[in-house]
Amino acid sequence: MFVYEKKLQYPVRIANPNPKLAAVIISQYGGPDGELGASLRYLSQRYAMPYAELKGLLTDIGTEELGHLEMIGTIVHQLTRNLSEKDIKTAGFDAYFVDHTTGVYPAAASGFPWNAASIAVTGDVIADLTEDLSAEQKARVTYDNILRLSDDPDVNDVIKFLRAREVVHFQRFGEGLRLAREKMDQKNVYFTNPAFDK
Ligand SMILES: [Fe+2]
Repeated sequence: MFVYEKKLQYPVRIANPNPKLAAVIISQYGGPDGELGASLRYLSQRYAMPYAELKGLLTDIGTEELGHLEMIGTIVHQLTRNLSEKDIKTAGFDAYFVDHTTGVYPAAASGFPWNAASIAVTGDVIADLTEDLSAEQKARVTYDNILRLSDDPDVNDVIKFLRAREVVHFQRFGEGLRLAREKMDQKNVYFTNPAFDK
């Protein structure tokens, strides 16, 4: 348990620009379930996590998500390189373009800028770990939706790698929750907090 192998990077080599696709993939850069929120959530939660194994797990996954943030930024950048006049008027990208030109800005596909309100750090072992399980599933759903919208094999290859990592993170946080239960109370099948629920 907790032999965790980080996978920080995967090559991003996108041949063809596609600004419309960039305008939705930006959500994994600065959207509510994106890689920026993921890394800050885990790297902030780790301080109050009482068990060394879980502190390490949050550090490992948090740093891995930072690597993934860079990959998403690279995808958005490569999809918006050398655009023509016609490209920047593409429906779906024009709203992004008017605010950011082709800079990579942490915002959701809806245009809402990254906001710390999209993550939680409660200092409670069970609350934080269950938030993390939910966050990984939401990230996986966002990648599922990107795959539904994209028919670019260069993009999909990278998105499938990132999606697979979210599935692994969900499994590791599940192990983390089981470990927390063992440490807190073996009989605590409902994951209540023994400090309050006697
Ligand atoms: Fe993740």
